[in-house]
Amino acid sequence: MKILMVCLGNICRSPLAEGIMRHKIHQKGLEWTVDSCGTSGFHDGEQPDTRSIFAARQHDIDITDQRSRRIKRSDLEEFDLILAMDSSNFSDIQRMCNSQTQKDKVKLILNALFPMENRAVPDPYYDGGFDKVYDMLSDACDRILENPNF
Ligand code: 4NP
Repeated sequence: MKILMVCLGNICRSPLAEGIMRHKIHQKGLEWTVDSCGTSGFHDGEQPDTRSIFAARQHDIDITDQRSRRIKRSDLEEFDLILAMDSSNFSDIQRMCNSQTQKDKVKLILNALFPMENRAVPDPYYDGGFDKVYDMLSDACDRILENPNF
């Protein structure tokens, strides 16, 4: 299973999601892989936001080696499950897809916890709330590990 976590800037939410998922995959001894990216290239090449780094570090997860990158068309082929943080990420990714198979890979990450509710992981860039985002993502990752075909 190859999972891609996607947000807007790839500096706040999706790097946390990647770090959390990688940690859990490692703990379970699974062969799954995980990466993250943004729908924008606003922060290309940057480290995660210091507030995301701090939130992860509080759970002994190091995300400092991640670098922001923009989503590319080949990601839609390469990954099995493409997890959007909010509905704008979701529609931006869907618009890039050129087959139903690709579209079917794209899901809102919180639908793993709240099926069909289309809830968003709130963007903490301006208003903060990184610990709450961490907890939501951790719960969602647990559920996805139990049921990747949610
Ligand atoms: P992210 O948060 O999508 O969770 O990485 C954001 C980071 C940067 C911006 C917006 C959201 N920005 O507008 O620069």
